[in-house]
Amino acid sequence: MAVVGLLVNTSADASGTHQILASTKAPDNGSIPSALETAGHLATQLILTSPIAVPTSLISIPLTIKTPLNHIFADPIATDAPPPSFEKKREHPVPRLGISGTAPFSTNKFYANFFLGGQTSPTYLHPYAVAWAKGKGASSSWGLAISHVEATQRVYGQSSPTTGAASYFINPVGIQSVCISAKELGSHTTLTTDSLHDFSVRVSLRPDASKPAAIQFPLVQGSAFISAVFNGSTPLIQTGVFYKTVTRSTREAKSGITKYKLHLEDGSTWIVYAYHTRGDPLDLHVINNGLAESKGPFYGVIQVAKDPGNGEPIYDQACGAYPTSVDLSGNAKDGKGSYTFTFKKSGMILTTLAMFALPHHTTSFDDATRANMTNVKLQTTTKGVATAVFADSWTMVEELPTNMSFVPWSPKAGSISTLSSTTKTFIHNIALQEISQNILQQTNQNSMYFSGKALAKFATLLMVINDILGDKPLAQAGLNQLKVAFARFAENKQLFPLVYESGWGGVVSSATYVTGNSGADFGNTYYNDHHFHYGYYIYSAAVIGHLDPDWVKPNKAYVNTLVRDVANPSTQDKFFPVWRCFDWYHGHSWAHGLFESLDGKDQESSSEDSMHAYAIKMWGAVSGDQNMASRGDLMLAVMARSMQSYYLYTQKNTAQPAQYIGNKAAGILFENKLDHTTYFGTNIEFIQGIHMLPLLPHTPLVRTPEFVAEEWNTYFGNGRAAAVVGGWKGILFGNYATIDPRGAYAVFSNPSFDPSWLDGGASLTWYLCYAAALGGL
Ligand SMILES: *[C@@H]1O[C@H](CO)[C@@H](O)[C@H](O)[C@H]1NC(C)=O
Ligand SMILES: *[C@@H]1O[C@H](CO)[C@@H](O)[C@H](O)[C@H]1NC(C)=O
Ligand SMILES: *[C@@H]1O[C@H](CO)[C@@H](O)[C@H](O)[C@H]1NC(C)=O
Ligand SMILES: *[C@@H]1O[C@H](CO)[C@@H](O)[C@H](O)[C@H]1NC(C)=O
Ligand SMILES: *[C@@H]1O[C@H](CO)[C@@H](O)[C@H](O)[C@H]1NC(C)=O
Repeated sequence: MAVVGLLVNTSADASGTHQILASTKAPDNGSIPSALETAGHLATQLILTSPIAVPTSLISIPLTIKTPLNHIFADPIATDAPPPSFEKKREHPVPRLGISGTAPFSTNKFYANFFLGGQTSPTYLHPYAVAWAKGKGASSSWGLAISHVEATQRVYGQSSPTTGAASYFINPVGIQSVCISAKELGSHTTLTTDSLHDFSVRVSLRPDASKPAAIQFPLVQGSAFISAVFNGSTPLIQTGVFYKTVTRSTREAKSGITKYKLHLEDGSTWIVYAYHTRGDPLDLHVINNGLAESKGPFYGVIQVAKDPGNGEPIYDQACGAYPTSVDLSGNAKDGKGSYTFTFKKSGMILTTLAMFALPHHTTSFDDATRANMTNVKLQTTTKGVATAVFADSWTMVEELPTNMSFVPWSPKAGSISTLSSTTKTFIHNIALQEISQNILQQTNQNSMYFSGKALAKFATLLMVINDILGDKPLAQAGLNQLKVAFARFAENKQLFPLVYESGWGGVVSSATYVTGNSGADFGNTYYNDHHFHYGYYIYSAAVIGHLDPDWVKPNKAYVNTLVRDVANPSTQDKFFPVWRCFDWYHGHSWAHGLFESLDGKDQESSSEDSMHAYAIKMWGAVSGDQNMASRGDLMLAVMARSMQSYYLYTQKNTAQPAQYIGNKAAGILFENKLDHTTYFGTNIEFIQGIHMLPLLPHTPLVRTPEFVAEEWNTYFGNGRAAAVVGGWKGILFGNYATIDPRGAYAVFSNPSFDPSWLDGGASLTWYLCYAAALGGL
């Protein structure tokens, strides 16, 4: 780049030194935020016995999955109001701070920090994070601070004596590398959001609430530039890391686009592009080592990108256009699925966009998209190295697990429903005892989570009795009980009924409304964990509907309401936000609801996340919604890929830091850190096991034999699993079936097996059946 002149203001800075080119101020390298939160809830055991009900009639219903239709995201699940059994509430305890527009609003998306708490916690767009500076930090800016953290800036926790792996890693927050602000902004600045979609949001900064926006930021996940739209206010480009030099290019990047390069004290280089749509081009003058100011008002777009060293040619081509939102579409046919992000754009609309893709995107790109990958790469906080792609849309392709149904499954063998008669006889005895437990009592907890787990346990048990053991009278007897147990929820008569609240738009537990405790039922009222909780009901409903198709119709509106709450695919459904939980950019869900967080959204149990996708797949199939079934299939395939990149690590993993992958599992994955722990304790069987449960047919798709073997050898081999107590022991051996099904079967079939080794969501019957099926017993 040709330099017209060094625009650095070399007069005295505040500290009285005279040469800003060699700043005396240390670069502000941010701070390490929150205490590593581990407060949580211990799982309870649900092991009870009761006399068996008398079989009455026979059931026999095959599962059929028809060829899926095209464009699996096109249609809403439903557009009518949730059933009247849900009490309607107009208000939610969390205010919708600064949100414009009408509900539904997303609650679990990456941008929620903009409307929570002080509105200043970061939004992780990957590779950049942005945060409202709000007059604070090294820049004292009132604008939006952009930061990008390199791998070398991460902070690691202590190494584990067992594995040598770091107990956590975290990226510093609060680094204000470049702030985009306006002279008009000051201490009365307000931040509002609108256009809250699944991949995007628009943020406006106003001098005060009564004034029009001084700057608008259309923010989209993966953007190569942070883009700021100006309409006559005076731009300020600030930094908390301090300018070493600021240079203006003699040549426009393209016609109408001026370009500046910012070299910061931490050695990073950022490029500023300014596309003026009227008035004068951007003419910055440097006031001090933290501030460059436009000579006058600006109309157009200012875009900022970090240059990893080779980015400038691509940025030069892509500047002028900016994404505003993403359209998601997808297809499923003959066991193949694909999904496409089509970026809606503004600015120079004939210009092709540059967007950053995460590792699980690039490994599943179709040929056309792969051809448009560049060699420009930037580190992300917790999703590996992102690659810039020069394209207006991306298409990712996946093989779909369409041959997976209710019975045990493996990628090689597909569905396995045949066991030897000796094995069946053995399991039948156990099943008879377990189905005789008190279903009504075990499923009647004061928690949607624990009740759902219990429902799912009995549903699985019934499926085994019917589909594998072939004892239809026994299945019928149990089914009658389970229907009554499920009806308590379908009629919304459980201890804390669900309510439909129209403030945000969703179905939440009434627990917080009643108790005032925001953490009640794991924070369900505040939109934590909905996909975990409701996933168990959706799965249970799929099994009941499989066993009795006549049950589907009267229960469809209820079950679909739960699906709509967590996984509504369509903006035509005005009652629920689109994709509350699953994040199609990240390839997994976020469990974190309406709580401000410096480290962004998080999720612990990757396996309950995949369970909810499996549940949606099976309910879609059973209820005759093929597009829903295909979405479930696609989510499962995408999750298997993303979890193998970010959550579950073999030695070959390249997405997460080498210092961390020895942990084998993520622990809690935040947008800004990974912490090898749980919210409920630090026993290794909790930390690894929460990524195993519930074990269901989809488990071997996500948790490959290679991974399970490495994890087992690291933590549980040599008698260590046998020494574990409580329900976790059953989970560990159920998981072990992936690599040694006969060994696992031997543990579960041992007469000394203690029922206290089963957690509330698991049955011995299912573990036996699962291990026997995988082991060919
Ligand atoms: C921050 O910078 C200071 C010196 O500028 C250095 O001593 C310190 O180690 C840095 N901290 C991190 C987390 O990089
Ligand atoms: C820009 O501001 C003018 C008035 O100052 C207003 O009429 C116009 O609608 C604004 N344009 C946009 C795109 O907001
Ligand atoms: C340089 O900075 C000083 C003090 O901040 C200011 O008074 C002056 O106007 C600046 N000069 C230029 C050319 O920006
Ligand atoms: C990939 O790049 C080519 C050439 O620039 C372009 O024609 C094509 O539209 C791009 N593909 C996508 C999906 O944007
Ligand atoms: C089942 O589907 C998977 C795709 O998920 C495929 O790899 C596998 O070969 C299929 N198995 C059988 C037995 O058809």
